[in-house]
Amino acid sequence: MTHTRLPVRACVFDAYGTLFDFASAAASCRDVLGDQVSALTALWRDKQLQYTWLRSLQGLHAGFWQVTGEALDFALETLGIDDPALRDRLMGLYLRLTAFPEVAETLKELKRLGFATGILSNGEAAMIESLVRGNGLEMLIDARLSVEQAGVFKTHPSVYQLAVDHFGLPAEQIAFVSSNGWDAYAASAFGMKVVWCNRYGLRRERLPGAPDFEITSLVGLPQLLTLG
Ligand code: LAC
Repeated sequence: MTHTRLPVRACVFDAYGTLFDFASAAASCRDVLGDQVSALTALWRDKQLQYTWLRSLQGLHAGFWQVTGEALDFALETLGIDDPALRDRLMGLYLRLTAFPEVAETLKELKRLGFATGILSNGEAAMIESLVRGNGLEMLIDARLSVEQAGVFKTHPSVYQLAVDHFGLPAEQIAFVSSNGWDAYAASAFGMKVVWCNRYGLRRERLPGAPDFEITSLVGLPQLLTLG
């Protein structure tokens, strides 16, 4: 069997849900939230994403920090929770989300194999930086790219173009890794080599694009990109 190395030179990751576990924020507040942890996590995330798409359609961009806070307000009110201290605590925790267990090792291996690495996220620069530093990944992630440089959220093509411009590589030489199906399909439609890290067991999207690979965690990603 011959192994043809894919012409991928850089590996770029989505942040929330792919490298960092957004569920860890509400999970840390189980003392107050009790059995509402899962409901809050799902409502908060769903509304946060909806707001990014709607604001982009409307041409009314706002930073991801604001959108995340507004989505949290909606989610808390939906669950009948009126607790400003809890709101502050959850927002603080959003800056200190934990990385998934295999993230550091995966990044180390990618670097060892000579890939450039990056994050391409809806998050603002300070939000991304906080997560990178909090998880000790400073030396393992070369580029931290925020949609703020494009002034519009994913899935606008100008967002994926940020990676192309930053690395000076054609889209097909950049692997994009996301746990979000909609993000993975959009990056594929844009022309990137896409790995859908389907952590959440989601069904395939009925949208333009077709991820090249589907995995359930980042374990094995370096090998996948090396061997094809
Ligand atoms: C991000 C979100 C969409 O990091 O997960 O861009």
